[in-house]
This record gives sequence, structure tokens and C-alpha cells, in this order.
Amino acid sequence: MRGEAGTGPGSLWDSADAAERVGRAYEAPDLAAIREAQIDLIGPLAGEQTIDIGCGPGVFAAALAARGAAVTAVDSSPAMLAAAAARDGVTAVEADATSLPFADGAFDVACLVQVLEYVADPVAVLREAARVVRPGGRVLAADTDWDTLALGIDDLDLARTYAAAFADAKVHGQAGRHLRRWLVEAGLQPVRSRARLLESAPAGDAFLAHNWSYFRGTVERSGRLDAAALDRLEGQLADAAERGAVPFAVVRHAWLARVPEVSA
Ligand SMILES: C[S@@+](CC[C@H](N)C(=O)[O-])C[C@H]1O[C@@H](n2cnc3c(N)ncnc32)[C@H](O)[C@@H]1O
Repeated sequence: MRGEAGTGPGSLWDSADAAERVGRAYEAPDLAAIREAQIDLIGPLAGEQTIDIGCGPGVFAAALAARGAAVTAVDSSPAMLAAAAARDGVTAVEADATSLPFADGAFDVACLVQVLEYVADPVAVLREAARVVRPGGRVLAADTDWDTLALGIDDLDLARTYAAAFADAKVHGQAGRHLRRWLVEAGLQPVRSRARLLESAPAGDAFLAHNWSYFRGTVERSGRLDAAALDRLEGQLADAAERGAVPFAVVRHAWLARVPEVSA
């Protein structure tokens, strides 16, 4: 299995710094537009009991609450959960996605956004999400396909090496393209999908700017590019942005599925 970092207490994710970084990256306007399109896919949410599994710092959970959903946000990282708990309309519960402390059918809607790419067994996690959603309820699964990462820099070899190293550092770097199959294997019924291109930049209030330390560090730890190569890449990203290129573009997939109605 690929993937550099575990999750939960003590992992790379579990620090106040990581929660702040991810929170700022997810609040950036380039990502906010994608989040709203993903939430649109679910349909009306007012009054719906909704669980956000792998909620991170709670940006997606808060956006669900802003649509009128009653939101329970779950994460295995105490630091991420502390950030989520501070958001309006969000009830935070520490738990692992593989074993949720809720009764069968407790929710109308479950969301798993940018979490399946980190778990060992995405189908088991989706089965557990489906268990806590009532028959006829909805499950939203959204993830990136990191093999689509296109850096608009001059050095194509450097761009390709970086993208492959970043994708390979994930447990499931191509999660986005597998979502539909994982949902079917978990016994869910896919309804509709939406893919969006995340175009970002290394400066200003942008997803990539806020997350660059993590993006750079991930590839540095992989050993596939050294610090000098990453300095060169950083310079070329800035240069590309200044010349009007799209320095960073990657596809984020989202699928809405239904929990089957119980047959008579
Ligand atoms: C990229 S963040 C997701 C952010 C959030 N879903 C959003 O879209 O705003 C990934 C989160 O998944 C959590 N996570 C990963 N594996 C998990 C598991 N097995 N159980 C619960 N949370 C998990 C991590 O702790 C991290 O906070």
C-alpha cells in the first residue's frame, strides 16, 4: 500500500498548525467554489441530519450547516476536531471512519470529502457510512485524482516527477477515478457525478499558496526530488503565475449515491 502518513492522533494531520493550514486552504476562494458545487450535488439540505466523515477543520461541515443541515462532524484527529468544533452549527465527535458510534440509519445524508484517499479500505469506510444513513438516504463521496495534476511550468520532466511523487505519497492517489466503483462495491446506488478542475496559484489567498508547505514537504520526504529541485520548481511556479499561466490544475471528482430502500 502506498501513502506516507497515517491519520489520527500523533499523525502529520494531528496538530493545531495542520488544522490551521488546511482550514485556510479550504476557505480559499478557488476551493470554496468547488465545495459549493459539490454541496449542490446533494440537493436540499434544510433540516437533514447530516454526518461529515473525516471532517478535518470543519470547513465543509460549516458549509453544510449554512445550507440548514443539522451537522455532526467526525474525525480521528483531535486537533482537526477542535477546529471543527469551533465552527457554527457543527457538533464534533472523535471517531474512526471504520467504526462510527451511531445507530443504523441515524442520518439522512453522509459526506466523505477528501478522506477516502487516506484510508486503507475505502469500500469498508463507505459501507460503514451507508450503515449510519437511513434507507433512501444520500452519500456524497468526493476526492481528487492526483495523476491529473498539471503544473504549468517550463520544465516538463520536473512537473511530471513532482506530480507522480505527490500522487504516490497518498494511500490512494487516484481516488477520484475509483469513487463510483467503490460506492457500488459498498452496496450503494450511484446517482450523479460532478468533476471540477481546481486551478490554483502559489501566491495570494489561494488553495496552493496556503498548502504549499505540505505539498513541498510531501515530495521532499518521498526522496524523489531534493531541496534544490524543489527550490527550482517553486521558482518556476511563481514565474508561471507571473506570466499568466495556470501554474497548478487538478481534477476533483464528486459522486452522489443512494442507500438502497429496504426491500419488502
Ligand atoms: C483533507 S482532510 C479533509 C477535510 C474535510 N473533509 C473537508 O473537505 O473540508 C482529511 C481528514 O481526514 C481525516 N481522516 C483520515 N482518515 C480517517 C479515519 N480513518 N477516520 C476519521 N478521520 C480520518 C484526517 O484526520 C483529516 O482531518
